[in-house]
Amino acid sequence: MTRVLVTGAGGAAGVAVIRSLLARDDVTVFAADMDGWAAGLYLVPAAQRRLVEPGRSDAFVPGLAALVADDALDVVISTVDVELEALATRRTELTPAVLAAPSADTLAVALDKLALAERCTPTVNVPRTVLAGPDALAVDWEFPVFAKPRRGAGSRGVRVVPDRAALERLPVDEDLLVQDLLPGEEYSVDVLADADGRVVAAVPRIRARVDSGVAIAGRTVHDPELEETAAAVARAIGLVGVANVQLRRDREGRAALLEVNPRFPGALPLTIAAGVDIPSLVVDLFTGARLPEHVGFRELASVRFLEDVVLDPREVLESAHAAHQDED
Ligand SMILES: Nc1ncnc2c1ncn2[C@@H]1O[C@H](COP(=O)(O)OP(=O)(O)O)[C@@H](O)[C@H]1O
Ligand SMILES: [Mg+2]
Repeated sequence: MTRVLVTGAGGAAGVAVIRSLLARDDVTVFAADMDGWAAGLYLVPAAQRRLVEPGRSDAFVPGLAALVADDALDVVISTVDVELEALATRRTELTPAVLAAPSADTLAVALDKLALAERCTPTVNVPRTVLAGPDALAVDWEFPVFAKPRRGAGSRGVRVVPDRAALERLPVDEDLLVQDLLPGEEYSVDVLADADGRVVAAVPRIRARVDSGVAIAGRTVHDPELEETAAAVARAIGLVGVANVQLRRDREGRAALLEVNPRFPGALPLTIAAGVDIPSLVVDLFTGARLPEHVGFRELASVRFLEDVVLDPREVLESAHAAHQDED
């Protein structure tokens, strides 16, 4: 049996990963979250539920390392951005378990939208991207343009900049980026790359409805341009494992790069149902199994509803912390 711990059990991605792995009879799933009310904890048997420190806490990585030892874990999967940042340069502390996450370099580039644009520009259609301030004022833009935080998430702080006067008024002390506006349709592409960085699957999705930044309805679409663009992004950042590449069509209708979320997306159930069981393939990848050359998918649509799980109140784990606020 492969013993896998999945963190972020309160989030949509965490729940989807746990559900996917529970379907395997060669995997024992441990579920973890910082919050005892995280729903995904209660998908696994009581003996396999764990509380962890918040990803921002200094105690997070040592606490996880202690779980690796106590539970004899083989694989750790984190579905939470702040945890991945904390773990990126410290993955050896989880030895002998492997952290099923992209390399520190891949994470660093993906989480910095300026570094990402610079890394991908040679091989991918990327909107011109510069820091607000003198760099942005030096460019002869076609207005409107778009501004967003260099290290943003969940669409916080994004805005359309209608003209040059508004560009001059942008704050210069907030690490804002200015970008060509991409006025077209937006896509999320779930990408899986093998140990050699070869892209095994790229599944474009339209996000038909988004609630608090999480796609709650959508459909998968076959589109070679989207699939190839997302794969080129994955290659440019040296992806091994899973990432969610967000694209949007530019003024000419071509697919262009918005950003990369280097983790499992909340809309994973659709991608899994469409034929690419990313969590299961990620466990195979990080336990040294060879992945298929290519995993295809079908066009499917999905909607989502809430479901209440009823528990004995004595079963609810008591934690000092509330749920993570960050979601994509
Ligand atoms: N260059 C752009 N042109 C048009 N819309 C954009 C552009 N960049 C971002 N957006 C919009 O803002 C949203 C958030 O931007 P994104 O780059 O995905 O950052 P994050 O999700 O980390 O906040 C996108 O989903 C998209 O709708
Ligand atoms: Mg985004």
